Amino acid sequence: MFKIYLQNIKLSQFRSYNYLDLSFSPSTNILCGKNAQGKTNIIEAIHYFSTLKSHRFVSDKELILSDCDAAKMQITYQKTPDSRMEKMKIGLSKSAKRELSLNDVKTDNASFLGEFHSVLFSPEDLNLIKGDKEQRRRFLDADVCQIRPRYYKILKYYNSILRNRNKLLKEEHPDETLLQVYTDKLVEFGTEVIIYRALFVERLKETAKKIYAEIAGEAEELNLRYESEFFDTFVEDRAVIREAFHQKLSEVAKEEHLFHTTRVGPHRDDLEFYLNDKNAKIYASQGQQRTIILALKLSELLFMKELTGSYPVLLLDDILSELDKTRQESLFSYIKPCQTIITITDAQAFRVEGAKTFLVENSVVTEQ
Ligand SMILES: Nc1ncnc2c1ncn2[C@@H]1O[C@H](COP(=O)(O)OP(=O)(O)OP(=O)(O)O)[C@@H](O)[C@H]1O
Ligand SMILES: [Mg+2]
Repeated sequence: MFKIYLQNIKLSQFRSYNYLDLSFSPSTNILCGKNAQGKTNIIEAIHYFSTLKSHRFVSDKELILSDCDAAKMQITYQKTPDSRMEKMKIGLSKSAKRELSLNDVKTDNASFLGEFHSVLFSPEDLNLIKGDKEQRRRFLDADVCQIRPRYYKILKYYNSILRNRNKLLKEEHPDETLLQVYTDKLVEFGTEVIIYRALFVERLKETAKKIYAEIAGEAEELNLRYESEFFDTFVEDRAVIREAFHQKLSEVAKEEHLFHTTRVGPHRDDLEFYLNDKNAKIYASQGQQRTIILALKLSELLFMKELTGSYPVLLLDDILSELDKTRQESLFSYIKPCQTIITITDAQAFRVEGAKTFLVENSVVTEQ
């Protein structure tokens, strides 16, 4: 059974770290420390290599140590026990473009993504079901980018067309020919965005349903649904989705001129969770939401394993205290094959046989 092994991370002038050089064990690693000592900063740096974004949704500039102009990050990892060590580097700068390299060769975003896979589970994820739509779209986008690197460019392109189209709609008399050009491009790329996201949800849903049933007992059935204005049930048919997209846009044309913005498209779509056909957003209890998110995260993990042949690195940021014994046990039974990096605030609360433990204090990390 293969798993990705993150062997080492080096950070310089990243977040609160002036310099950090940390080597991990291939099994369980525990980062322990009081609040605001720099635990999540490490998790954030690792996950950035998988998604090229901060999971805290801040701009790159905020990731650079205060009063510095640039940050450097580097990881070495192995995809299988016999393969060579791979090296990835990221350079962030306040004044220049981000630089990426893979085994010391400069590379672009699309080739960088999809190389190093990790799954992050943090307390913010527990708001996913009842939080706003944007949070759920970001969840989908971050994951799809990681497993389908081509999606990164498509999404970026869609967003830039959307921005241009909205800018044009803000004008008093938008140029109709240009608007038509933007509309066609919006539909073309928007349809691709929808297909990538909906296929991902389709793949995740069966595993999530199975895991949910295992943790919760047979009581309820979990269902996931990609919610779009262009279909009730997703069918992978480009022509049908494009047609429906065009149709809706012409229906809302007047409204768009009135409100000066693009009223329909994947930028307004949603991911919905159902328990026995009841919408979890309205219906699910705290405990049920936790179980759904746990099932979702574990499905992500298994999906990545299926796709790449190796288990991704699992990052558990401050999440164990949020889960009761039963949920902790299900989590542990699934993640046994992975390399895991866990943050906790209390050293006494949690012990794993053979785990490598680090103390994080004022952005200095020492092995225990
Ligand atoms: N760009 C930056 N430059 C300098 N320091 C920063 C920067 N960004 C964040 N910090 C500091 O990093 C610290 C927070 O680190 P982090 O979020 O990793 O804490 P934590 O150990 O995970 O805490 P908690 O247990 O509360 O989650 C804060 O003290 C914050 O001021
Ligand atoms: Mg933290």
